[in-house]
Amino acid sequence: MTYDSANPAPPMLPRSSAVLNAARMEPRMAGEASPIGHPEWTSIASSDLADVTAEEWVHMNAQRAQWRKTEVATQALEMLAVSKDAPGFGYQINNYEHCLQSATLALQDGQDEETIVVTLFHDIGFVACNETHGEFAAELLRPYVDEIHVWTLQRHMYFQAIHCTTCPGVDGNLREKWRGHPWFDWAANWVRKYDLASVNANLETAPISVFEPMVHRVFGREPKVGPLPE
Ligand SMILES: [Fe+2]
Ligand SMILES: [Fe+2]
Repeated sequence: MTYDSANPAPPMLPRSSAVLNAARMEPRMAGEASPIGHPEWTSIASSDLADVTAEEWVHMNAQRAQWRKTEVATQALEMLAVSKDAPGFGYQINNYEHCLQSATLALQDGQDEETIVVTLFHDIGFVACNETHGEFAAELLRPYVDEIHVWTLQRHMYFQAIHCTTCPGVDGNLREKWRGHPWFDWAANWVRKYDLASVNANLETAPISVFEPMVHRVFGREPKVGPLPE
């Protein structure tokens, strides 16, 4: 179907999602603790961060170490899954499937696990955080992956521009700002091979189950702690 300027598409109606509906369910009763990650874990007695005792911190940090090993990956996957059935605006496949398709291309190309996971999450913020979605993904993955991936994620939309000059207003030279940087070629190749070619309704796409073990291994790593903000 082609665009007809005389008959523009009607505006979309607001849509409620299963996630939002679940969040609207009856709130926890006062005095009840929220669910906790393991039947043997316990919540601390203090209800103000300033009052937490040394013993409570030790207790909670021990549970936190276990919690982080699985919960970070689980929640990252859930964030991705939120857009599974979300409508797109004109590409052949929606953003969720684009993420899976790009990761499938990286997998089929023999990339390492870290690169595949980075590719899977590269557009996780595309809908809710469109203008800064590269930064969104970079910050999500920064503690767990090499800096070359963080650098690429932050800039991937600007590296696309050279291939999208038929789009009104797109400056194909945007990536030239980083020409000569040691990671320029990696970013250029990653965008060309995995990002641009993965909006194809006819291309085989691996299901999320293929990537889940990889996601758990990468997000289950001991996170790197970044410097304090300036
Ligand atoms: Fe993107
Ligand atoms: Fe993308």
